[in-house]
Amino acid sequence: MKKLIQKLTETFSPSGYETAICEVIRKEIKPLAGEIRVDALGNLIAHKVSKSKSGLKIMLAGHMDEIGLMATHIDENGFIRFTGLGGIRPAALTGGRVRFMDGTPGVINSDRLTDLTKTPTLEQCFIDVGASSRKDCPVKVGDVCAFERPFLDLGNRMIAKSMDDRIGCAVMIETLRNLKTSPHELFFVFTTQEEVGLRGATTSAFGVDPDLGLSVDVTGTGDTPKGSKMEVALGKGPAVKVKDGGMLADPRIVNWMIRTAEKAKIPYQREVLEGGTTDARAIQVARAGVPAGCLSVPTRYVHSPSEMVDTRDVQNSVKLLVALLSAPVDL
Ligand code: CO
Ligand code: ZN
Repeated sequence: MKKLIQKLTETFSPSGYETAICEVIRKEIKPLAGEIRVDALGNLIAHKVSKSKSGLKIMLAGHMDEIGLMATHIDENGFIRFTGLGGIRPAALTGGRVRFMDGTPGVINSDRLTDLTKTPTLEQCFIDVGASSRKDCPVKVGDVCAFERPFLDLGNRMIAKSMDDRIGCAVMIETLRNLKTSPHELFFVFTTQEEVGLRGATTSAFGVDPDLGLSVDVTGTGDTPKGSKMEVALGKGPAVKVKDGGMLADPRIVNWMIRTAEKAKIPYQREVLEGGTTDARAIQVARAGVPAGCLSVPTRYVHSPSEMVDTRDVQNSVKLLVALLSAPVDL
C-alpha cells in the first residue's frame, strides 16, 4: 500500500486541476470497479452494483485535489506573487518548493522582514522560478502549482505533501481491492475542489442521490508539543467524526461506525475537530438531506508540505471501511 501512497502523494493536482491524479486513480481502480465515469466537475465515480435488493445506496467521498497556489502577478524581474488555492498558511511556505502544472519548479521566499519575530503574510511571499525578467518567466497569471516534497517512509509513520487527502483516496482504493462482497450499491467518488469549498462533492452527491454518505479524509491531532486541545492522536486508530467546523455527524452513523469497529476489534478514536470540514458536509445537506459521517485518518501538520500519518491507522481505516460496507446497515 505504501507504493500506492507514494504514487498518489507525488502527483501534482491542486484544486481545479485534478486531471493528473484522476488518471492515476482511474488506472488503479479499473480492474476493481464496475462502471467508472467522470462527471462535469471532474469527479471520478466508480459504481459497484449490488446483487441484493435490501442494501442501501452508499456514497463514499475522498477528495483528489490538494491545496496549491495560483500566480496573480509577475513583476518586471520575473518574481511571481500568488494567492492560495485552499487553506494556505504562510508560516509553512518560506523555503519550500513548488511545481507548476507544466513541470516548472520554483522556490518560495519573502520580502525582507523588518520584524524577524513575525512570519511573512501571503502578500509578502513570492515564487522564484529562476527567471530574470517578466518576459522570460515561464509562468503566466492564473497558472497553478502545488508543493513539491518527496514521500518518506519511516516505517510506522509516513510523511508526504497532500496526505490530505490522497491518504483517503488510498484507503478507498484499498477498500475496493479488499471488499469481497457487499449487500449495498456502492459509489466510490474521488471528488474535486474540496479544498476550495466542497464543490465536487456538492454536485456528485446531488447526482448520486445516496441513502447514506461517508467521507474519508484527514483530521488534525492534539499529540504534538503544545498542540491544540484535541483527543485524536497518531497510532490510536482511525477517527470517527462526531463534529467538525462544518457538520455534526449523524449520531446514527457515529454509532454504526463505533459498533462495527468494536465488533471487528479495530481500534478507533472519537473525533471533535474545531476547525475545518470535509465532503461529508456537502453530502449531508445534498438535496433533501442525507445521513452522513466521516472516517478520518489522524494526520499531523495538515496543510503543510510535510503531513504525517501512522501506517497502522491507515491499515485500520481500510479494515474499518471494509467491515462497514460488508454487512447490512441498520441505523
Ligand atoms: Co484539506
Ligand atoms: Zn481534506
